[in-house]
Amino acid sequence: MTETIIIGRVLTSETPQSTRLENVALLVDTDGTIQERIPQGTARYDVLSARRDAVWLPDETLLTPGLTDLHIHAPQWPQAGMALDRPLEDWLGTYTFPLEASYADPAFAEDVYDDLVRTLLENGTTTALYFATIHEEASLVLARTCLRYGQRGFVGLVAMDHPDLCPPDYRQASAREALDATRRFIGAVRALPGNEHGLVQPVITPRFIPACSDALLEGLGELAAELNVRVQTHASESDWEHQHVLNRTGQTDTHALDHFGLLRDHTVLAHAGFLDQTDRALVRNRNAALAHCPISNAFFAGAALPVRDVLDEHVHCGLGTDISGGYSPSIFENARQAVLTSRLLESGTNPHLPASERGLPKSRIDFQEAFWLATRGGAEALGVSAGQLMPGQMFDAVEILGTSGALRLHPKDDAATCAQKIVCHASSQTIGRVWVNGRQIKEKASHPC
Ligand code: GUN
Ligand code: FE
Repeated sequence: MTETIIIGRVLTSETPQSTRLENVALLVDTDGTIQERIPQGTARYDVLSARRDAVWLPDETLLTPGLTDLHIHAPQWPQAGMALDRPLEDWLGTYTFPLEASYADPAFAEDVYDDLVRTLLENGTTTALYFATIHEEASLVLARTCLRYGQRGFVGLVAMDHPDLCPPDYRQASAREALDATRRFIGAVRALPGNEHGLVQPVITPRFIPACSDALLEGLGELAAELNVRVQTHASESDWEHQHVLNRTGQTDTHALDHFGLLRDHTVLAHAGFLDQTDRALVRNRNAALAHCPISNAFFAGAALPVRDVLDEHVHCGLGTDISGGYSPSIFENARQAVLTSRLLESGTNPHLPASERGLPKSRIDFQEAFWLATRGGAEALGVSAGQLMPGQMFDAVEILGTSGALRLHPKDDAATCAQKIVCHASSQTIGRVWVNGRQIKEKASHPC
């Protein structure tokens, strides 16, 4: 690969509340790092833009950082949008575990994972934190698929051994078996041909406390420390789940996970709507993070994540599609739903109550904050040096086509307006080229190259 010069309008978050819009020349090193970011109107910009190999973004397009999906179940892609009328505990047993069990067949996985990874790239997702299934071979298929398309993938072999919750044909037979499989999977992902730079990383993935024995949780905590591997799980997702963990452990999910050594640097807790301030302080102190899944929460949680508090308390947070608890593979769709649900949390929704008693004051987030969650928030949660188009960061980027319709971007639009238009209107139809680590992995047309 040679160094690349990209010239055009760039939108990037500085803080959750401030977004920067500038015409710049970006010099991307051969290893994919942004080396220079030179504003228009400088001598250096003139030098770079005179280079014959410079790549120019057309007018009315914008470059944003790549999007991070901080929580997605790859095997559930075939049931996206199905059975969402069922409570979580029913949905898992009746639909989800039987579907996931079918990934004992790696050929099925090849088909689904190829379609999913391509779809995510079409939606601008350059980094994804995946739950796979309990099957080592099929989960390696997912890791290989990310590598093949050039997506930054964090892939977890699911660990679940609890006989009270997990069916006999879809669980590891013992804690020992799940721990051995997790250890083998970590080694196998790290050794995948083509993964020398670690584009794809293994993640320790206890499904959630109700699905795991104490011995398994304890062993996974030890493994995370021994092998220095990230952790992901579900936490305090619904009334049922939150209460189940309180009854079993006498603690909230967060404190129980911490007890087992699973609340570590860059641990991602999905949903987390029922965390209180003490739980969130513990998440922050451990440098762990929350994956906000607003669409899924509307169906399963029974409550909204108070994302305003999360941001104000400086807890790491990004967005997750939670396919298939959420139906949409688009992080932009989840960003707009994050704004909408925060507004509904603030206003309340029961028209039979007086306005003053209806909602939770000061709960809203705005569009710039949603843009930050979709880009920088997710990357910071994982400790990935991307999510911002600034020097020293990896060049993970998405070209937004603002050429027509509601997303038409005008030269006079300021940063906040661009962020708002993009969060409201961006979709796979308005996403052009996509880059990860400086490598272009998707063309303008709908299929990745
Ligand atoms: N809790 C445990 N497993 C799952 C899952 O697959 N989806 C969701 N939304 N919650 C879970
Ligand atoms: Fe989930």
